[in-house]
Amino acid sequence: MKRQRFLYSVLVAVCSLFILYAIIKNYVVDPNASAFLSHKTGLKRELNLPAWLNVMYVHVAFACLAMGTGLLNFSNRIFRKSRRFHRINGYVYLMSVFLVVLTSGYLAPYSTGGKMSSIGFNALNLIWPFITVMAVIGIRKKQIGRHRDWMIRSYAFCFTNLSIHLLASLFQYGFGFSYSASYTLGIYGSIILLLAIPEVLIRSLFPPAKPSILK
Ligand code: HEM
Repeated sequence: MKRQRFLYSVLVAVCSLFILYAIIKNYVVDPNASAFLSHKTGLKRELNLPAWLNVMYVHVAFACLAMGTGLLNFSNRIFRKSRRFHRINGYVYLMSVFLVVLTSGYLAPYSTGGKMSSIGFNALNLIWPFITVMAVIGIRKKQIGRHRDWMIRSYAFCFTNLSIHLLASLFQYGFGFSYSASYTLGIYGSIILLLAIPEVLIRSLFPPAKPSILK
């Protein structure tokens, strides 16, 4: 229990910092995404900048909302205080996931790194809603453990952007890959990590009960 509380505090700190960073970077410091867009060379489709930016603003807003609402729903204290809040907040999370994926569907064909990156993002566009819907199905069937596990798996994808950029920096500065190759590797690396880390967490935080030999 103590370990869970500590992990949750770390999660609150990381998520709050990341949400703040995403808002300041994308709406205040670089609202035209010029740094990010400067790496887009040789695009197969012409990018309509105002439309791309507007979709990106919506994308970031709902991504932050998903991260925030998901975070609140992992709080035991809030859950104990109000089930109603947990339910409504959960549906806001669900809607946010679908809006991130919908906007991602628009952004993906123009992604940095070309077709390989697009394919990776489209894989994410299928994996994330599937996992999230599994969490909803779990709770509709009143299977709380299943719901919790699928929600942990779903929430991991709120770290997609952070993970892509961390891995891309590692490939670029650590191994000398070009920016766009590093970005593509970051996408695939993130898919693997964000599927694997929740499995480790679920097994270590909620180990399956050992069958008793004493009947
Ligand atoms: C939930 C946390 C997320 C945040 C905060 C976020 C934020 C952003 C931001 C700021 C960008 C602009 C470029 C950059 O800085 O990378 C971006 C681009 C993009 N995001 Fe997300 N995103 C998140 C999750 C996702 C997920 C889960 C997907 C896929 C299902 C996705 C798909 C995309 C795509 C396709 C692009 C365009 C990439 C490009 O043009 O190269 N994002 N995102």
